[in-house]
Amino acid sequence: MDMNRKTPALAGVQLESPFFLAPVAGYSDAAYRSVCYELGAALCYTEMVSSEALIRHHPKTSLLLQRAEAEKHYAIQLFGAKPEVLAQAAAMVSAYRPLVIDLNCGCPVPKIVKSGAGSALLKTPEKIAAIVRAMREATDIPITVKIRKGWDEASVNFLEAADAAVGAGAAAVTLHGRTRAQGYSGKADWTAIAELARHLAVPVFGSGDVFSPEAALAMLAETGCSGVMFARGAMGNPFVFARTVALWQGRPLPVYTNAEIAEVARRHLERSVQFLGEKTACVEFRKQFCAYTRGRPRGAALREQAVHCSTRAEFQAVLDLFAAETSDSDAEAAADRS
Ligand SMILES: Cc1cc2nc3c(=O)[nH]c(=O)nc-3n(C[C@H](O)[C@H](O)[C@H](O)COP(=O)(O)O)c2cc1C
Repeated sequence: MDMNRKTPALAGVQLESPFFLAPVAGYSDAAYRSVCYELGAALCYTEMVSSEALIRHHPKTSLLLQRAEAEKHYAIQLFGAKPEVLAQAAAMVSAYRPLVIDLNCGCPVPKIVKSGAGSALLKTPEKIAAIVRAMREATDIPITVKIRKGWDEASVNFLEAADAAVGAGAAAVTLHGRTRAQGYSGKADWTAIAELARHLAVPVFGSGDVFSPEAALAMLAETGCSGVMFARGAMGNPFVFARTVALWQGRPLPVYTNAEIAEVARRHLERSVQFLGEKTACVEFRKQFCAYTRGRPRGAALREQAVHCSTRAEFQAVLDLFAAETSDSDAEAAADRS
């Protein structure tokens, strides 16, 4: 495989690697992003934040913008449909000094689409241009966009949508290689990412179906994109960043024992408690725990207990049980160290 070791430059910063954590609603919060950075992610995105809620000072919205100490860079993603609202929201979030502010033009959720936001914007590229222009005028922080291939197979227009964004000054474009109609089904079309990477002068980041280090490197090689986003493949698996960076640098891939995984999960929960308080953090962490233990021996039994945990102490007890379980990776990790 062609080992492309180029690192992307974004907003004047040379990033350490081309491997990013995608915006993922309900998952890519400050606590989880901080863990991903520690394991080698070069850039992490907040989940999409409502521009309407922001300008109305909705109390929960500011929680989504929090930045962890470990986050040297982060990207804030906004969604909305009105240029003036997105401009005001962009000006507000500039106070957090994100590396870039990303405009969501890909969310397929009916409620979002009905409001004219997310992937509904793909139907009117001129609106994407108007929003990007308004956001640029409101802040000195570079604006990027994240799009899908098109609304449906009959209206694939990612080149046009990307041109509209870049023509209005967008500094980079991420393409999730599916249409809105596809949702998360079918296969992401990497040839569309390759086409866009050839077409644009600004960096193109690829998203869709990157579930392993090998897939991340294949996306770089096959599409020529400048950066690769992990979304579902990073849920409960921040280790994928360390493994991907190792493969990319030609080093042996680290393997993690259950005890090591449990320790990272514990750190994740502790940070979550700092940001959200114990009660909310523990409720939020139930799904995270499920993600960490997916496919692990005795994972189902541990998840059964974890979904009832309401305190750190209760989670610690379940994490201790998880840590004590031996797994194939324990043997592998021991062999690696010998
Ligand atoms: C639960 C979930 C939440 C998501 N939230 C966002 C979001 O807030 N903003 C966004 O641009 N994309 C969001 N996405 C899309 C991902 O960023 C990514 O583009 C998509 O999942 C394809 O990548 P994957 O195949 O690696 O998961 C979300 C995806 C999932 C599964």
